[in-house]
Amino acid sequence: MTAIGNDRTPNLSRSNSRRGSGSFSTPSGTQVVYHTRTQDELHEYPHPEKKTMADHLRKYEALLTVSAPRMRMIVSAFEETLDKGLEKYGEVVVIPTYVFGWPTGKEKGEYLAVDLGGTNLRVCLVTLQGEGKFEVTQTKYRLTEEQKQEDGEKLFDFCAECLHSFICDNLGRDENADHLPLGFTFSYPCEQKRIDHGELIRWTKGFGNPGVEGHDVGELFAKSLEKYNVRAKLTALINDTTGTLIASNYVDPNTRIACIFGTGCNAAYMETAGSIPKIGEMGLADDQLMAINCEWGAFDSFDHQHLPRTKYDIIIDESSNKVGEQAFEKMIAGLYLGEIFRLILCELIDQGDLFLGQNTYKLEKAYAFDTAFLSLMESDPTDELLMSIGIFNHFFGVETTIEERQFFRELAKLIGTRSARLSACGIAAIVSKKGYLEKGCSVGADGSLYSKYPGFAKRLEQALVDIFGEAGKKITTHAAEDGSGVGSAIIAAMTVKRKADGIYADY
Ligand code: BGC
Repeated sequence: MTAIGNDRTPNLSRSNSRRGSGSFSTPSGTQVVYHTRTQDELHEYPHPEKKTMADHLRKYEALLTVSAPRMRMIVSAFEETLDKGLEKYGEVVVIPTYVFGWPTGKEKGEYLAVDLGGTNLRVCLVTLQGEGKFEVTQTKYRLTEEQKQEDGEKLFDFCAECLHSFICDNLGRDENADHLPLGFTFSYPCEQKRIDHGELIRWTKGFGNPGVEGHDVGELFAKSLEKYNVRAKLTALINDTTGTLIASNYVDPNTRIACIFGTGCNAAYMETAGSIPKIGEMGLADDQLMAINCEWGAFDSFDHQHLPRTKYDIIIDESSNKVGEQAFEKMIAGLYLGEIFRLILCELIDQGDLFLGQNTYKLEKAYAFDTAFLSLMESDPTDELLMSIGIFNHFFGVETTIEERQFFRELAKLIGTRSARLSACGIAAIVSKKGYLEKGCSVGADGSLYSKYPGFAKRLEQALVDIFGEAGKKITTHAAEDGSGVGSAIIAAMTVKRKADGIYADY
């Protein structure tokens, strides 16, 4: 099986030439002899590649296709998992968010929002104007890989510093200005017991900052805000899905579910307190609404009973910093799709079926193949598949034949389609649990896979039809409103009002 990481890069003592014959030794000392094809050979002899690539494709098709009956089985296991998570605190993490019901659409005022996402840190000022209208001023900062691993305190200090300079430099407010209410979108599983606190259960999406897991993120961030004298009052700690649910409902009251299909994946929906036994001690009326953060990326983690994992999914899991965790997310989310593709390529390279005689070390580096490449290959309109030529040549220094490029495109389709079909299972579980099929509902969706991956939304909706039959057409997905900016501001507004009105003021 293909190992991943830099250490498998062969010792390429051979010449740089990609043509001809020769040999090289691998790190384990094995001598590998290689012979390459030349363009002339391609013309002179019957070319066996097409058939071979087609054979490979059939194999991967069998491995990566999720049939309708299989999807229905996953949906029912998913539904059971949601019920278990709402029943009691413990191994299944389903999170009551302390967002009490839908917005009225009349929320108004100025709110700050900080979004610590998987890739960027974003700080915004959101002006809610009521009637579903708003204005956003924002600044984005790219997070470095180091920042995702450094001490947690440093990470929160960075967020506080960025917010501080945004308030002073962009908004022109001075160091004695009033504290504006702040919604902090922190999209990692946090067990909440009130809206402005939450204990990080575990990092996801490759983050690993020490000193945060098991601690109250609200408190850690509030400390950093104080340290930098930031004129902001942490009002609500929000998951991106909850923000998306509320923001989408603010502009389209038909929205019942929100999903993120980005670096990570997850969903939120609105539940009645009577169906959340684990918060029973709050004594809420049975029909009191509360938003639920499903943390569905963790579905089927650890015991892996329901998802059709392939050996590539297992390699990704076992070489991750969180072995056994986020099983669903690792098969679906943007962080991983390119890596699944790359692992399959490495398998073919190891078998001698791809890029024989070419220097493939750039492809052998873990996570070298960005998921964006998959969407570029899928959307290439040219007959020659010029986009793939460019990607493989420019980023990985290898040459490709048209048969190989056609295979790559089909492989990308298989991986992207599996992601969409598995995602649809999560949506279907919520739809079925809440009985939304009869009337239909709108699903607000955000994240780069949903917004940038060609065909993802269509495949998602097709899968819903495969699961539910024609009735599945009543579940429609829409590009969501900006959950971590606008959604977070609306939730901050709802919270300020709720507390001022003395409703569940301790939460
Ligand atoms: C996190 C969720 C988040 C999702 C999408 C997952 O890794 O656990 O909290 O909503 O990514 O950002």
